Amino acid sequence: MRTRLRRALQRTYRLGGPWPVFGPRRLKELLGRYGLDPRQAHPRVFDIESLSHFRQAGTLALFDALRIGKRHRVLSLGEGLGAPSRLLAKTVGCRVTGVDLLPRQVATARAMAAAAGLEGRLEYLCQDAHALDLGPRRFDRLYVCDSMAHWNDKASALRGASRWLKHGALAGCNDWLAGDEGDIEAAAKRMPSVRRAFERGILFQVDLKAEAGAFEGAGFEILSAQDVTAEVDETTRRRLAVLEAFRPVLAADEALGIAYFKVMLDLHFRFVRYGRVTARLVRK
Ligand SMILES: C[S@@+](CC[C@H](N)C(=O)[O-])C[C@H]1O[C@@H](n2cnc3c(N)ncnc32)[C@H](O)[C@@H]1O
Repeated sequence: MRTRLRRALQRTYRLGGPWPVFGPRRLKELLGRYGLDPRQAHPRVFDIESLSHFRQAGTLALFDALRIGKRHRVLSLGEGLGAPSRLLAKTVGCRVTGVDLLPRQVATARAMAAAAGLEGRLEYLCQDAHALDLGPRRFDRLYVCDSMAHWNDKASALRGASRWLKHGALAGCNDWLAGDEGDIEAAAKRMPSVRRAFERGILFQVDLKAEAGAFEGAGFEILSAQDVTAEVDETTRRRLAVLEAFRPVLAADEALGIAYFKVMLDLHFRFVRYGRVTARLVRK
């Protein structure tokens, strides 16, 4: 991966940056503050721990569509702070290998797996999804939550990942797509709020057809390709309403989410759509 892109992603996901990203100590403090146990599969735990716009319900919908069972070995690319893999291990009980590009994300994912008592089921590796080396591991399922939009060559990354998937493995993503008037780069030219919230050159949004095409180009047959923008927009509005209602008691880092979600809502439909794709590996 190009060094410039990696650095821009590092700035994006830094603590105290424009996006609500927390380290393990702060995550544990926040969970404690709201009386939440990291071992619970409670939507509020996911809200605090995850960077996903699809929230817990949308992430579980992807897991359900992939028919993930307890016996499956699961690979996740762009796992971030580990919230999706913890949710999966808590609800299904399977084992997950989560990969993320950024060392800080991987360190947080490991610490939070321990806090949730799940370190036996979850492992995390710091690698670029475009250049995986997963050794002798083989997987029955692959999921990608809110990360493919950062990948500049989606088909090649998926083709690379397929080397570690069993024949017939199911794979799928929840992802940010281009909107009706273009992508976030196009929005940044017109909207100063977007320039403040987003580093340039970190997103490579495509439309739903091209997203499904990336799976097809990597040897998968498409099982479903759905636009779920209305659903994500609705849940983002609800999340923002809760944050605004609690604004007087929120700490400064929690309140960052308010500005962030407002910018996102301005982008929905016009410059960001959301999609869910599921596919089966038929050709390596
Ligand atoms: C929006 S976060 C989503 C994190 C997590 N999947 C979740 O739903 O909470 C996107 C993640 O993708 C990771 N990422 C971006 N490009 C990547 C790449 N080429 N390889 C691996 N991870 C990548 C980022 O570091 C970041 O942690």
